[in-house]
Amino acid sequence: MAQQGVFARKPIADIIATQGGSRSSSRILGPFSIIAMGIGAIIGAGIFVLTGTAAALYAGPALVLSFVLAAVTCALVGLCYAELATLMPVQGSTYVYTYATLGELVAWMIGWDLILEYSVGVAAVASGWSAYFNRLLHQVGLGLPPQFLAATGEAITRADGSPGVAIANLPAAIILLLITALLVLGTRESARLNNVMVAVKLVVVLSFVVVGAAYVSPANWHPFIPANTGEFGHFGWSGILRGASVVFFAYIGFDAVSNCAQEARQPQRDMPIGILGSLGVSTVLYIAVVIVLTGLVPYPKLNVADPVAEGAQVIGLGWLSLLVELGALVGLTTVILVLLYGQSRIFASMANDGLLPPMFARIHPRLNTLWISQLVIGVGVAAVAATTPIDTLGQLVGAGTLFAFILVCIAVIHLRHREPDTPRSFRVPAVPWLPLLGIVACLGLLSGLSAHIWLRLGIWLVIGVAIYFAYGRFNSRLVGRT
Ligand code: ALA
Repeated sequence: MAQQGVFARKPIADIIATQGGSRSSSRILGPFSIIAMGIGAIIGAGIFVLTGTAAALYAGPALVLSFVLAAVTCALVGLCYAELATLMPVQGSTYVYTYATLGELVAWMIGWDLILEYSVGVAAVASGWSAYFNRLLHQVGLGLPPQFLAATGEAITRADGSPGVAIANLPAAIILLLITALLVLGTRESARLNNVMVAVKLVVVLSFVVVGAAYVSPANWHPFIPANTGEFGHFGWSGILRGASVVFFAYIGFDAVSNCAQEARQPQRDMPIGILGSLGVSTVLYIAVVIVLTGLVPYPKLNVADPVAEGAQVIGLGWLSLLVELGALVGLTTVILVLLYGQSRIFASMANDGLLPPMFARIHPRLNTLWISQLVIGVGVAAVAATTPIDTLGQLVGAGTLFAFILVCIAVIHLRHREPDTPRSFRVPAVPWLPLLGIVACLGLLSGLSAHIWLRLGIWLVIGVAIYFAYGRFNSRLVGRT
């Protein structure tokens, strides 16, 4: 081993030997389920919620360019994920890739950082779910009291119009606990339900595009790039960049596919198909939705929480608006499912290495699922979603994910040098140039976020380092051996 102590690297052969030899009874996911996992994780709050503010406040009709910019970034990183997922077809994703390249301490930091992408991301999506759920209840004359629809202590307006504070976001917590129960009961069952829900979501998105296209008014696309207001990020080219940084959230999830590697029937073939296929399908749909949406509604009017439903409403099609709301609810449910699933696989991988307590890797003998890990994550995230205003934390999700993506690009370049002969069934073309371009693109999107978000990311990582030196350093299997 080249490095010792906290920089100890885990040899790829060890990674594959300790994790890759998964029982064949666990290899239950085929290519269709894997693409559905990807689309399940990708299409959600980003398109159904964030698109509106991003168009209204930052980019106008040119939001479509923001989506293209974010898609190109994700495609470059997606190629790197595809190579690494076939080189190390194990659970744990970026955490594992970093362990093999930059050593244990950085790997731990990335594992810690991925909590932002998965657990905090899922809490943010669950609060979006809660809002859509209540809107649907209203449509049928029901609706929950506002005290139970926002995080503890948030200011609300009570049903009688008087001001008050929220008790807890109950629907957000309940959906997280329900999906957790499903994931504990079985991966196969969860994947089946996911497949059905992804089909519903796709039908809804396609219906919006096809029906909406007939009502588009091209005048709404002018000016295509509204003039900058004088402030960075508010329209003009900097607005397109800021828009891309915001809607980047819409693409998060394609990387979660790499967590399925250990449960894929043929990871060498299915990982690239799953990662790049789900990203490709989602990109095409996003671009179509944004073109239609900005053609239906003048962009200043899109600053609403349910912009796609608003688009259907504007053309007077109540049924389409209802369908979109239902599709959004189903869509957000699949995002929750795949992200909770992915988080448990990352924790299991870290527990196998001794960086987290061993209970996170324990598999239920009959259900074959990571039941303890899944329960701890589900209950923890439900508590956060119910009680914590998610806005501030939510912005960290994109920053944390971009940081992980940069390390994935670095890992590809590094391993091509160090392990040139290890078989790779998928290879990124033009290494090191494409991964380098991926790093530049991620840095570009990071630059579109405001500085206080980088500061918070830094604080989060420092807390992670402190935890490593208090626990992981003493319990690590690898460092313990060196
Ligand atoms: N891409 C996922 C979403 O938009 C996280 O909800």
